[in-house]
Amino acid sequence: MAVTRTFSIIKPDATRRNLTGAITKMLEDAGLRVVASKRIQMTKEQAEGFYAVHAERPFFNDLVSFMISGPVVVQVLEGEDAVKANRDVMGATNPADAAEGTIRKTFAESIEANSAHGSDSDENAAIEIAYFFKPEEIVG
Ligand code: PPS
Repeated sequence: MAVTRTFSIIKPDATRRNLTGAITKMLEDAGLRVVASKRIQMTKEQAEGFYAVHAERPFFNDLVSFMISGPVVVQVLEGEDAVKANRDVMGATNPADAAEGTIRKTFAESIEANSAHGSDSDENAAIEIAYFFKPEEIVG
């Protein structure tokens, strides 16, 4: 299995409850290494661009409003099959469907305030990493 990278966001509901460390520990315990990390306040334009693929979905405006409602921590994670490792530990989008022991089952408040984002493919991981990080900000 190849070592790859993925992109993660610790969302505003989690930073608000001071869960950055707890969530990062769950990512690390899942075999992922944080090779870049920064706490930012996303602008509306940044959030709209990031979620552009969802622009036609009914929850788009709510999702953008939520993602700019407070700081987020954007991270690049590295590990064996990083996209899958991250999605496994994150759990299902809706915390009601998430497995025991996952980040979303443990911490998420709702399908909107679901504590974490993770890329869904290697291709999207590369796009999402480049959206927030310069190459020199990533130190493997
Ligand atoms: S996925 O992973 O793409 O299959 O998930 P999906 O269900 O398509 O959801 C995509 C992102 O939209 C968020 N979402 C919502 N936000 C607000 N309200 C509602 N009802 C809602 N449903 C889904 C969901 O948390 C996903 O955010 P990210 O940041 O991509 O995880």
